[in-house]
Amino acid sequence: MKQYNSNGHIIHHGDAIEILRSKIGDASVDLIFVDPPYNIGKKFSQFEDRWSSDIEYAKWAYKWIDECIRVLKPAGTMYLMTSTQAMPYLDLYIRERLAVLSRIIWSYDSSGVQAKKYYGSLYEPILHCVKNSNSYPFNADEILVEAKTGAKRKLIDYRGNTPKPYKTKKVPGNVWNFPRVRYRMGEYEKHPSQKPEALLDRIIRASSNKGDTVLDPFSGTFTTSAVAKALGRNTISIESQEEYLRIGLRRVLELDEYQGERLEMPKKNTKIRNGRKTKQKERILKIL
Ligand SMILES: C[S@@+](CC[C@H](N)C(=O)[O-])C[C@H]1O[C@@H](n2cnc3c(N)ncnc32)[C@H](O)[C@@H]1O
Repeated sequence: MKQYNSNGHIIHHGDAIEILRSKIGDASVDLIFVDPPYNIGKKFSQFEDRWSSDIEYAKWAYKWIDECIRVLKPAGTMYLMTSTQAMPYLDLYIRERLAVLSRIIWSYDSSGVQAKKYYGSLYEPILHCVKNSNSYPFNADEILVEAKTGAKRKLIDYRGNTPKPYKTKKVPGNVWNFPRVRYRMGEYEKHPSQKPEALLDRIIRASSNKGDTVLDPFSGTFTTSAVAKALGRNTISIESQEEYLRIGLRRVLELDEYQGERLEMPKKNTKIRNGRKTKQKERILKIL
């Protein structure tokens, strides 16, 4: 267990449950974004994301959920992700303890696995929960999106006393379309489950304010803390794998070196060759 600090940003290297229990105080965090391993057999550096059963996974998750609830301030918010198959276990547990305001679908354009005998998975669920449904931040004006229906067609809304044009902006609904992070994107890091900056940008703007503390107990590529920092929030990040800790030290604490080695963005080969390679290139781009 090791800790790195700089100007309101803390990175803990170690196990999330242990660190939550020993290092994070009661009611000290404004916003938590939790994106844990999903129990689907992914390899996260030295860690394999597989439990012996759904129940064993849920029991493990209940431990960090309890800790997250403990460290959340009375007006705090938690967003929680997991696999579609595991979410019912966590949803049932959480709704007994927090108010679930929205069940969000993060929908994307291509599946990691091209399913042939069933319908490929094109979304991941996100719970939006708060401790107190009468008092929580929600900065609607910060996250408005284009209202495509009436306003786009320049229709007039005759429902009130005075007819007026439809609003051109609205608060997003609970189906969010953001592309998955792909190799050719500027934000890409070497990690099997990187979440897009745009997704975290919406969550952090809506559910926290400048100077607030944002916690991510399973940081991966540290997207949460990188985006939160850019938005003027303080951050606490936890990650068990040294390979990914390096990403956080570079992305959040802006360190150049770790244990004598340079910390750099992944080097990418995006050169495309002509001729015989074209088919192969097209196949690769399709996968990405
Ligand atoms: C789904 S990924 C998180 C991805 C992250 N949201 C992002 O955008 O990059 C889960 C992360 O949890 C880490 N992890 C697994 N077990 C852990 C544990 N017990 N404590 C802390 N981190 C853990 C994995 O190494 C992995 O990076």
